[in-house]
Amino acid sequence: MSDIILGIESSCDDTSAAVIRDGVLLSNVIASQDVHKAYGGVVPELASRAHELNIVPVVSEALSRAGVSASGLTAVAFTRGPGLLGSLLVGTSFAKALGLALNVPIVMVNHLQGHLLANFIRQEGVEIREPSFPYLCLLVSGGNSQIVRVDSPLSYTILGQTIDDAVGEAFDKCSKMMGLGYPGGPVIDRLAKQGDPARFKFAKPHIPGLDYSFSGVKTSLLYFVRDQLALDPEFMEKNKEDICASFQKTLIDILMDKLIKAARQTGIKDVTIGGGVSANSGLRDRLQYEGRKRGWRTFLPEFKFTTDNAAMIAIAGYFHYLAGEYAPLDVAPVSRMSDF
Ligand code: KG4
Repeated sequence: MSDIILGIESSCDDTSAAVIRDGVLLSNVIASQDVHKAYGGVVPELASRAHELNIVPVVSEALSRAGVSASGLTAVAFTRGPGLLGSLLVGTSFAKALGLALNVPIVMVNHLQGHLLANFIRQEGVEIREPSFPYLCLLVSGGNSQIVRVDSPLSYTILGQTIDDAVGEAFDKCSKMMGLGYPGGPVIDRLAKQGDPARFKFAKPHIPGLDYSFSGVKTSLLYFVRDQLALDPEFMEKNKEDICASFQKTLIDILMDKLIKAARQTGIKDVTIGGGVSANSGLRDRLQYEGRKRGWRTFLPEFKFTTDNAAMIAIAGYFHYLAGEYAPLDVAPVSRMSDF
């Protein structure tokens, strides 16, 4: 008999549901929330209200696209955290209610584990390349910047992580400072393609080990922009492509320096990236370049699996399900990684 898993993701501002059968993706539906654009960032209360509105239609659509009825589900997987508590509560409560109603197990998934396993999402008619265990994953999003050693689908170790801002926040704040809108990553990525990455220099942090810091580089940009605007009020408009290219290159240099160090220290040569920032074209190109130079095998998730999506929650949930790891019905969502 087939194992059919419904995955539910609601950790931030995307409501998503996906169905997989025996590890193969049948549907992946994502409802993004435009309501936050006017505020230049995600407003938690608005996010949880939008999840409440979206969850039933999104799940119905995912089941219908998969050609599966709710009674055909084997288990319901959901993101337990980390993320915004109000948002997580919607997905968690929905999964519990559905699991109870259908009398099937519920499976809790760490959102970050979903990103780590994005390369294992199999699709009908699409050739898959999977990394071998153990592999390294550079996990970069709006809330995290980590280097993780993944030993098996269910066991992993964080080798290094940011001690302050996440790299996605640096992209978003840079964009805000330059009046380019939210989310900043995709805009900076686009403008950077037309700019000179060597034109401006921004401060790089000196943090020991494999940890990251992105608050200094952000402040360096802030002072740079302030000083240049005092000399020429049109400086930003005239140079935005070069500023974006130079700032993006600095962030990628910081990320790659530590990833190279981690690969050298561990001797691991299978390297992946995941999380929203892994959609960045400069980072993707650079990973492949360093991989060719250093004899790594590199793995890039498809763009649709880089940002928040339930397909990665469903596949991670599938591995937990196979291991018999079910969640109790009194499980509560958690907002922070350390609470897992
Ligand atoms: O993983 P994600 O969708 O959400 C969470 O953080 O939970 O990541 C969102 C982050 C935002 O900071 C956004 O600016 C960034 O990913 N991002 C990018 C790109 N696309 C999204 N950053 C750089 N380049 C991109 N193309």
